[in-house]
Amino acid sequence: MTDKNHAWYEDPAVEYLYLASSTKNMRGYHAPIVNPKITFTGTNSFIDFANFIGNYFGPNDKRLLIVVDKELRQMGEKTGNRLSEMKGFNYKIFDNVLSDAPKNTLMEGVKICSEFVPKAIIAIGGGSTMDTAKGIFLLYEKPNVNLNNLIIPSYLGLRKKIDLLIAIPTTSGTGSEATTTSVITDTDRNPPKKTAVTLYELCPDIAVLHYDFVKSMPSELTAGTGMDALSHALGAYMLTMSNVYTDMHNLKAIELILEYLPRAVKRGNDMEAREKMLLAAYIAGVGFSNVVTSFDHGLGHSFGAIFHVHHGAAVGIFLPTAIAFQAKNSNRFIDIAQLFDVDIREKPKNIILKELLGNLRRFVQSIGFPTSVKELEKPQISYEKYSKEIDQMVKYAYKDVTRLFSARRVTMSQVHRLFEVGYENKIENLLDLYYH
Ligand SMILES: [Fe+2]
Repeated sequence: MTDKNHAWYEDPAVEYLYLASSTKNMRGYHAPIVNPKITFTGTNSFIDFANFIGNYFGPNDKRLLIVVDKELRQMGEKTGNRLSEMKGFNYKIFDNVLSDAPKNTLMEGVKICSEFVPKAIIAIGGGSTMDTAKGIFLLYEKPNVNLNNLIIPSYLGLRKKIDLLIAIPTTSGTGSEATTTSVITDTDRNPPKKTAVTLYELCPDIAVLHYDFVKSMPSELTAGTGMDALSHALGAYMLTMSNVYTDMHNLKAIELILEYLPRAVKRGNDMEAREKMLLAAYIAGVGFSNVVTSFDHGLGHSFGAIFHVHHGAAVGIFLPTAIAFQAKNSNRFIDIAQLFDVDIREKPKNIILKELLGNLRRFVQSIGFPTSVKELEKPQISYEKYSKEIDQMVKYAYKDVTRLFSARRVTMSQVHRLFEVGYENKIENLLDLYYH
């Protein structure tokens, strides 16, 4: 389908197909559903999980590769030691986790696997750690695979060497513990190319959602990752190609985030809020992974790459921009408005949208988060600096896979407008995106 120099979504034929599938006519046409097989939740979830894998593996197969970043190495060792004491597992740690999972580092993990022959891989961490674990799993099973040709519904026949891919999130945002995607940087390409690899087989078999793994997350990261989860759920709900299964997940995730994110940000030791946010991020993961993320992610990826802004902040800033833009073609924001306490009775659409955007802004402010590029503190970006990069950001965002799924067709000049509006996200400018 594609040659080695193109990711699948850069293929013109696939682009056309996906542009067609983002229209209302295609709702419910392409709706396969993928989830982890078992998700352990609740206060006893870690022990339930340990008991399960203790029984799953025979005495000669109790070998685990634990993937963590360097900061969380201690947490990885502690988890490995607990599984060792409780159930007799041996483990090795891989901690060379880098953002966007460069393939050459993944191959170091593959080497450990070839020598140690683990039967399960456990990722303990955020998005980059999950990407890395999925990437090691994929390349250990299929060392010669061409990363550019991987697209659902490819079937590679994985799990011949690794029986279980296990994800334990330490943030509440990416939802990667429930998704079929791994972002991998193909270092075999010159220059190296970041590629989204999506396969049913990359969905973890097991997710463990226990608040012990997230309770020490600082409030800024709690807010940033929470905004990422909100963008997943809200963005995916807006898409016309969503379906009943994803809708119920996305709506519930939004509801949980609105209730529990402010509590988790203000009081890190509020374990109920921590647990509910873990669930919300996971549920949003199921909700967006079975559709896709919205164009806020396309804009945020591009902006974040150029200005080195945290993923959650980058996509959160462009969430209202993407909602207002797509609202012209999709009435689905009206359901979301109700979750944001907008009384929709006898109101025209533009007023509902205006009130939704206002309430979304107040919510974002309530967690101490920037509502626009201008308000961003880390880093501070002047309009002069920002406007110089807009053309480059437009080029990147236009190539982003999420553009293909927008509920409203996106042209280059519209991407430019979206970036212009995003600098301040003034309500009147956002509404202008809806009107024109
Ligand atoms: Fe995200």
